Amino acid sequence: MGTAEEDIKELRDYIKNLEVINEGLRNSFEELTTLYRLVDIITESKTLERVLNSLMDMVTEIISCEGAMLFLVDEKNGEPDVALKRNISKKNEAKINLQMKQKVIEWTLKKGKTIAMPDIDEDANDTDKTTFVLVPLIAHDKPVGLIDIISDTPEGDITTKDLSLLTILAKQAALAIENVKLYESMKKDQISIIRALSSTVDAKDHHTSGHSLKVSEYSQKIAEALGMSERDIENIKYAALLHDIGKIGIPDEIIKKPTRLTPEEFEIVRKHPVIGARIIKEIESLSPMVPIILHHHERFDGKGYPDGLKGEVIPIGARIVHAADAYDTMVSARAYKDMLPAELAVSELRKNAGTQFDPKVVETFITILRRSSVGYDDKIDS
Ligand SMILES: [Fe+2]
Repeated sequence: MGTAEEDIKELRDYIKNLEVINEGLRNSFEELTTLYRLVDIITESKTLERVLNSLMDMVTEIISCEGAMLFLVDEKNGEPDVALKRNISKKNEAKINLQMKQKVIEWTLKKGKTIAMPDIDEDANDTDKTTFVLVPLIAHDKPVGLIDIISDTPEGDITTKDLSLLTILAKQAALAIENVKLYESMKKDQISIIRALSSTVDAKDHHTSGHSLKVSEYSQKIAEALGMSERDIENIKYAALLHDIGKIGIPDEIIKKPTRLTPEEFEIVRKHPVIGARIIKEIESLSPMVPIILHHHERFDGKGYPDGLKGEVIPIGARIVHAADAYDTMVSARAYKDMLPAELAVSELRKNAGTQFDPKVVETFITILRRSSVGYDDKIDS
């Protein structure tokens, strides 16, 4: 047992130590919180461009730098290609090119380790020496890319903590890049399927060729002007492209009939929204489009088909496609009818707002047609 003074001193040292540990923990906690926030932003980003841009923003939050260059590894030849540049001066670009030449970047990718290296410019008069921090992006043991950071921190001042934070961030970013690439390629496949399906409808009836595309363009613009979410706009755009897909289930002699349909034939044609919905329901990734396809012939006053839905009970996408479809049909020539001048088609839309069409959709659509250089105005002038 020591004296009372010794005991007190020991206790004081102990408390001091605890404070240091506490401070360290607090700092680590703050760093981790920042890191989690950053990782969240990266993983939430839905396009490759956004992932890469968020990643570059974050790198500059972790390490003080004057610029950075991001490379992505080309999947075909395995070579790193420049994907994004941030504040890269000509001088620094030349230095990075030299690193490429000297295979430093390739080496770092192969090693898969974050490194800090001094400026390789040996010019003695160059006083603004910088440090290059090379952060490889590795996903599932495969190099995906690399960030070359031009830091204004001297090499000796870059801590191992900075490097390990960058490494953790890079690991998550690499996974996000892989995911978003996979998502984008699936999206591409999905769009090819939609285009192929939509062209089968146009091929079946050459009089309506290009109609689906036009309806899709109008519908997208209306949805945008109504301030709908990105996801809803995309869904409406593609559903509009496929709105008449059910017509592939209607006999050719009815679809291609050059004269007006008999009531019996018209009854058969009226089945196309249900047939279309049934086809699209089978493709899981397209299933959000089903309500739009199923209800694109419902009328605002409830006198449409197949279910006689009324007003806002009709999905908004279906109300939009309905108006876009009607307008494009009016301004197009068909085997059994001449085309209507754009201004008359617009007055038809207006006249039937509240009965056939959703008035809000009509109002938005007319504003778009007026503004559009290829729509309403052009047709009036010609
Ligand atoms: Fe239709």
